[in-house]
Amino acid sequence: MTSVTVLVPAKVNLQLAVGAVRPDGYHELVSVFHAVSLFDEVTVRPADRLTVTVEGEGEGVVPLDRSNLAVRAVELLADRLGQRPDVHVHLRKGIPVAGGMAGGSADAAAALLACDTLWRGATPREMLRRLGAELGSDVPFSDLGGTAIGTGRGERLAAVPSVGRFHWVFALADGGLSTPAVYGECDRLREVAGEPVPVPAPREELVAALRAGDAAALGAAMSNDLQPAALSLRPALRDTLDAGRAAGALGALVSGSGPTCAFLAADEAAAKTVAVALEESGTCRTTRVAYGPVGGAKVVPTPRLRTNESTPGVG
Ligand code: C5P
Repeated sequence: MTSVTVLVPAKVNLQLAVGAVRPDGYHELVSVFHAVSLFDEVTVRPADRLTVTVEGEGEGVVPLDRSNLAVRAVELLADRLGQRPDVHVHLRKGIPVAGGMAGGSADAAAALLACDTLWRGATPREMLRRLGAELGSDVPFSDLGGTAIGTGRGERLAAVPSVGRFHWVFALADGGLSTPAVYGECDRLREVAGEPVPVPAPREELVAALRAGDAAALGAAMSNDLQPAALSLRPALRDTLDAGRAAGALGALVSGSGPTCAFLAADEAAAKTVAVALEESGTCRTTRVAYGPVGGAKVVPTPRLRTNESTPGVG
């Protein structure tokens, strides 16, 4: 086998309910994850040593060393399989970087699956997800895809049935937001307000809307406890959310820890209208139209020829 390519989706949190800080420093969560059709493509091939190249979103910004979650994924799986981690990893990124759409987690999930396939590890998917959870709370969902409720720190997953296809617009921002900084701001705002920290629970209206394939009800039921914190750190996102709502979005919220904003539209045509209005509003860097749910990480059956992958690895 000369190379393996894995396609992996972005996520948006339809609900992100954040509870108390646990003794391990993570927050107790209920997260309704939804995989959408923005993808990263991760290709691994045997090499002299572990190297990474990046193309697309975040090119020149995404780290090429051990702070890249894909590198840690390769090392973790190599260690478990008693294998040397000598591969070249090429990240072809369509998911915004540090955007609250689990791009780094997606790359880690894809790297685990790609290397396991390359090395013929035959590791059960459930085990790959368990390894993924060691790397980050969102990694198991990037592998699973679809729509799922995550509990614990977000890594314990149960699939949620849904009907039909939901149409989305994502407004991408300049620069990212640090996930730990947004959680920290959430804690700070709660402390200042002096309110008791809620016990996170899934919203029944949201689960019912998914089951019914009812976009209007889903739009009304979406919520993100990290949104006040993201808006506190990036007040300009209010204008982005307002612009999408004014253009007819059924629901608008910050995606995960932000700064990407997510807009649910009634159908594909409405999504295009919202995207055009957002672009014209000047309140975001660019937009992407997508749909969900889509499946999780999967091996691309036929390797595609890409001239730009012949560039020698850096890092
Ligand atoms: O698990 P992951 O490494 O993706 O999490 C990134 C950061 O987000 C953590 O270091 C922590 O600050 C915050 N986090 C949290 N509670 C969670 C998940 C993430 O506080 N359940």
